[in-house]
Amino acid sequence: MIKNAIDVKTNNLDSYWMPFTNNRSFKANPRMLVAAKGMYYTSHDNRQILDGVAGLWCVNAGHCRKKIVEAVQDQVSKMDYSMAFQMGHPSEFEFAARLTALMPNDLNHVFFANSGSEAVDTALKIAIAYHRLTGQASRTRFVGREKGYHGVGFGGISVGGMVNNRKFFGPLLAGVDHLPATYDLEKNAFSKGQPAWGSNWADELERIVSLHDASTVAAVIVEPVSGSAGVIVPPVGYLKRLREICDKHGILLIFDEVITGFGRLGKPFATEYFDVVPDMITSAKGLTNGTVPMSAVFVKSEIYDTFMEGSGEGAIELFHGYTYSGHPLACAAGLATLDVYNEDDLFNRALSMSEYWENVAHSLKGYPFVKDIRNIGLIAGVELESRHNMPGARANEVFALCYDAGVLVRVTGDTIALSPPLIIEKDEINRLFETIGNVLKKVE
Ligand SMILES: Cc1ncc(COP(=O)(O)O)c(C=O)c1O
Repeated sequence: MIKNAIDVKTNNLDSYWMPFTNNRSFKANPRMLVAAKGMYYTSHDNRQILDGVAGLWCVNAGHCRKKIVEAVQDQVSKMDYSMAFQMGHPSEFEFAARLTALMPNDLNHVFFANSGSEAVDTALKIAIAYHRLTGQASRTRFVGREKGYHGVGFGGISVGGMVNNRKFFGPLLAGVDHLPATYDLEKNAFSKGQPAWGSNWADELERIVSLHDASTVAAVIVEPVSGSAGVIVPPVGYLKRLREICDKHGILLIFDEVITGFGRLGKPFATEYFDVVPDMITSAKGLTNGTVPMSAVFVKSEIYDTFMEGSGEGAIELFHGYTYSGHPLACAAGLATLDVYNEDDLFNRALSMSEYWENVAHSLKGYPFVKDIRNIGLIAGVELESRHNMPGARANEVFALCYDAGVLVRVTGDTIALSPPLIIEKDEINRLFETIGNVLKKVE
């Protein structure tokens, strides 16, 4: 417990422009978090808040793990920053080697950035440059997916498919098309795990490729499981079919695993869970347990080798990078995070908890306004009927009432999206869903 609860009303809240937030209503009724440990936050009014969303899908090992905190403290006292271009420091190479060991097949090179959005832009740029180096410079188009979320850079919102994230920002990247979302409540509502129906949605890729001609298409990017659009689980066979079509046409396949990486599905990455290997994987969040911002793009050897062999002697192979690529504090946090995942066997723990999680999540079927429940690994989405002409309003009310009841959930549209730290216990799973159930009985 924090001894001196902070009186948020006395602070000036005006200066800070908060991201993806209704600033005016937040500032009228602020919710501040001032400390965190394990499964719980401490709120400014000294309450313990059960974290049902691992921060923002990132704190997979739970908050303020001693080993991670100490590793960052130790690193910052030794070397705060190391020049990122033309210079290296040992822990970025060690981290890269340990990360690629978690990857299947030959996805054994990794590029570091600082956020999921940057990882996505990096992957898109690598795709175009790769084709250019292989003599296929006409391959510049991307195919994303409706309802997809790939961060907020211009690349990410262009391939993404969430309308509010796109409509304010002009014409976006040229030459992008979108697959349909794999979302059909008539056929798939209340599926447990992967819905049986819908692998044929992948065939839309054939239509898109023939419309533009394969010679113009660089890459397809999808989230294996969509998170931000409200937890949409891929139908059985869908991702495999995408892989086949990409292979047939020489198109790169990118999995955006920013939320599915690091044990969320009970495997290191979703690629292993679904047994489909893409050409690139973007990752962030659980990479450092959310402790220090960092993201990563994993690429197949063939891509890396093409850059190494296709560039002249002494030339920089990829004109891209960030001041904070491979930041020493992020690498220290990341290495310690991998230790904690290993020592606690957290990915297997998530796998063994996922059936219990699924059953408790689906116990909300029949509660007021619940029109679908979706789940996979330690992820669940509870979709509510929207209020007339007020999309998102009901879920926002649920969010606020859950917080008052000591449980942090996340809402997107009218879906309550849950993704707890992988250390969650059964009684905490019960409490999470019981709280939501009780709140649903109270909302209008
Ligand atoms: C699938 C996916 N890609 C990219 C991002 C963007 O990550 P960031 O917010 O770190 O830029 C997110 C964030 O939630 C995400 O879920």
